[in-house]
Amino acid sequence: MAGKQERLEELRKEMLNDKSLPLGNSALVFGEGSINTDVMFIGEAPGFYEDRLGRPFVGRAGQLLDKLVKEIGWKREDVYITNIVKRRPPENRDPLPEEIEAYAPYLASEIEILNPRIIAPLGRFSMNYFLPTAKISRDQGKAFILGERLLVPLYHPAAALRSTEVLVELRESFKKLPDIVSGKILASENFSAKKELPSSQRSLF
Ligand code: URA
Repeated sequence: MAGKQERLEELRKEMLNDKSLPLGNSALVFGEGSINTDVMFIGEAPGFYEDRLGRPFVGRAGQLLDKLVKEIGWKREDVYITNIVKRRPPENRDPLPEEIEAYAPYLASEIEILNPRIIAPLGRFSMNYFLPTAKISRDQGKAFILGERLLVPLYHPAAALRSTEVLVELRESFKKLPDIVSGKILASENFSAKKELPSSQRSLF
């Protein structure tokens, strides 16, 4: 079977050829980063600079994401960064439910190929794709069991650019990531099942 890089490239080509995908007038912004990473960050949709450069998270929100990654001792190249919707919605509006639905099978394939242990959705659109009933202010920074993986929803960096309080919380949540990756946080005594979420989606702390 082809390696991860080849399979990702196949997937990218498949997306380019899929004329049924919405937002077809803007550039395809595929995921990038390490194919052997433990952590996959998933944003909502590309913005102006991402559309221009054809790369995810390269505008102001992306610069903050890079900074937060560096602050915990990691490098951008060591993680994988992608979006649910892989083309820019006009005027940077929120992605529509039907756009998320149209792009979702490709995200599912990207996750399957990359097989990361930890998925960190950035912002509520991405979080609600995985955890439909979760609330970003309540659930960001927690770790949820999602089949074989852990899901750690985080505030969107763009929200942190608009609010100092959000930035403080986002930074605190980022600091937990190395311990989640190393497994230390699993030994935490903070384990608590969340009644609001389906039983398969329990928060670890
Ligand atoms: N916001 C996102 O959700 N994704 C990007 O790639 C850039 C900004």
